[in-house]
Amino acid sequence: MRDSKVIAPDLLAWYDRHARVLPWRQPPGGGPTDPYPVWLSEVMLQQTTVAAVRDYFRRFIALWPDVQALAAADDAAVMAEWAGLGYYARARNLLACARQVAAAGGFPTTREGLQALPGIGAYTSAAIAAIAYQHPETVVDGNVERVVARLFAVQQPLPEAKAHLTALAATLTPQERPGDYAQAMMDLGATICTPRSPACGICPLLAVCDARAQGIAAELPRKAAKAPKPERTGLVWVARQGDSVVLERRPAKGLLGGTLAFPSAGWDGRDLPPPGPAQWRDLGRVRHVFTHFALDLTVHLGELTGSPTRGELVPLRQIDRAALPGLMRKVWDMALDAIQG
Ligand code: ADE
Repeated sequence: MRDSKVIAPDLLAWYDRHARVLPWRQPPGGGPTDPYPVWLSEVMLQQTTVAAVRDYFRRFIALWPDVQALAAADDAAVMAEWAGLGYYARARNLLACARQVAAAGGFPTTREGLQALPGIGAYTSAAIAAIAYQHPETVVDGNVERVVARLFAVQQPLPEAKAHLTALAATLTPQERPGDYAQAMMDLGATICTPRSPACGICPLLAVCDARAQGIAAELPRKAAKAPKPERTGLVWVARQGDSVVLERRPAKGLLGGTLAFPSAGWDGRDLPPPGPAQWRDLGRVRHVFTHFALDLTVHLGELTGSPTRGELVPLRQIDRAALPGLMRKVWDMALDAIQG
């Protein structure tokens, strides 16, 4: 294995011709840029695909064009716009970060300063420093890990190989155009050096790729066998009273923290009662896969015979499906089918 390579010139020449056009991205060759859209997009892109993020990013920028506007937003409005994107701690941290940055008069200008902010870790701080400030920081996400594992034919499996892959990635980062370089690595990983069937024949790094030379590109990176996801079960209540339904705001900390939800129990470590007295009808189960477990949630529908003991009554016509997290959209769709018969 060679442990030193020069890839930036070929990669950047490829990027100049093939960079994806993305709503948060300036065209290749741009200089330093506003950190706000870079930060917002990189937080949204954590554990989430470009395809899923595009429209969310556009809506956020239209509603809150700068960090001061976002800092002044209502928590509930931001949670509603984030709904469906998942990993809701990101939305809570986004607001906390915006408020800290607005109070300080702007984003910090170093990676260390950025990393001290809520929701900004090693990946996001490097991405903002490289893309917005043109600092030669090394940005390592899953795409970059895969590209580097193949370039150097690293056989050690993930996740143990992470530190080694990060160190190898750092040897490749150029002083010139670090923002374009970081995004070129991501684009290469997303469009050519893909997990299955990489398109090695059209790869700009074909000539220097050790895995390609050994005929093992598609096998890398190796991954340690994963334990199967544990299964959980729980109960959710869609409690009607006339033309209204009970919704509650979930606690800020924990699963689906801060989101709007139908009252539920048993699956999230909270052993709570139904939201009031009713004859409950079992509608069936919805299934939802979280990062660390899979959930079968039984949906009960009922007409309350007294006041709700949890949450608040919301008129049916005011319920905005888009403001609910994915799991609760499934619950709502099942309940609405039953309600509308
Ligand atoms: N994934 C995460 N950040 C990205 C970016 N800036 N461009 C393309 N894909 C990305």
